[in-house]
Amino acid sequence: MSKEVILTGLRANNDLHIGHVFGAMLPIIDVAKQYAGKYQVNMFIPDLHSFTTPIDHSKLQQQIFDNLRMFVAAGLPLDNPNVHIYRQSYIPAHSELTIIMNNFTGMGEMERMTQFKDKSAKLGTNRVTVGLFDYPVLMACDILLYGAAYVPVGDDQSQHIEITRDLGQRLNARFDQELFVVPKTVKEQHEFFGKDQGLRIKDLADPTKKMSKSDETGKGVIFLNDSPEIARKKVMSAATDSLGGVQYDYRERPGISNLLDLLKLFGGSPEDFIGQTQYGPLKSAVADKVTDFLEEFQSKLTSVNDDKILQKLEISEEAMAKQANQTLFKVQQTVGLRSKDG
Ligand code: TYM
Repeated sequence: MSKEVILTGLRANNDLHIGHVFGAMLPIIDVAKQYAGKYQVNMFIPDLHSFTTPIDHSKLQQQIFDNLRMFVAAGLPLDNPNVHIYRQSYIPAHSELTIIMNNFTGMGEMERMTQFKDKSAKLGTNRVTVGLFDYPVLMACDILLYGAAYVPVGDDQSQHIEITRDLGQRLNARFDQELFVVPKTVKEQHEFFGKDQGLRIKDLADPTKKMSKSDETGKGVIFLNDSPEIARKKVMSAATDSLGGVQYDYRERPGISNLLDLLKLFGGSPEDFIGQTQYGPLKSAVADKVTDFLEEFQSKLTSVNDDKILQKLEISEEAMAKQANQTLFKVQQTVGLRSKDG
């Protein structure tokens, strides 16, 4: 039997930040390191998703490569033959399956996607594109082409995992066969990655919203290429509240709760700070962890071997195109685009 697939994608339309690290990168890298050989691990760049929101196209090539280097600096083991890195647009089956899948997807379903609603509200009607609308269908195809069972993503993407399951199951039922291996439920995913819920790291300056690379000021975002000094400043000036006393309370005290969560994610002990009257020591503890992490990460980044990435890309893209084409061909036969005789 072939190995179960674990897959995730990170867009390359801006710099990566610590939300990406804990939401998607480390969960998949930990599996790749811990169970080398047990799973197939696909960590890819959904480059066609990059311009679903406006970007500087002249920077995309550089950004794609920078992000791949970050995957390696974060610990992705390129020498493991079960680990694959690739760019979505280099495997045309992704686009092709999307065009087919669009015809099995309801307009209403896509209109209900929270991310679409949020992003289109920000952009305004004239700037909302069909590409943004279709984003979840392309994402579903990214997953279904390889029959991925586990897809580590942050909380903001959970709804897209659900729609992937719906679309996969819909086609399986419609054609009465197992065309697609459908990803596990979001609950099963959380159990697998040892979490009790989806992760959503908040912006340090405005903890009512998600830490996001599209934030205009970047004041509340710890980017992976921030200098440790800048990062320390961002943590020390994180917005908190005037209620006094360190406590978890996600609703009333999102700033403090976010700092406690960050401390835990970086391997610290939030318990040590619960009940303290001052916020300063908690902030300093988080700042220490963040700067240690960035120093180590950035030093690894300088020793990443670019040639190794290029070689791996070539091997992975060839191997993954084969896998993706097999799924695509089965779908093409089933919907009548290709003869069943092969
Ligand atoms: P992107 O690049 O916007 O985000 C990449 C991953 O980082 C997670 N993330 C966060 N997690 C926790 N807290 C945060 N503040 C935070 N910010 C970002 C996102 O949830 C995501 O997991 N749609 C995907 C890209 C994609 C994909 C796929 C992922 C395209 N096709 C197939 C998995 C499988 C996205 O949001 O990328």
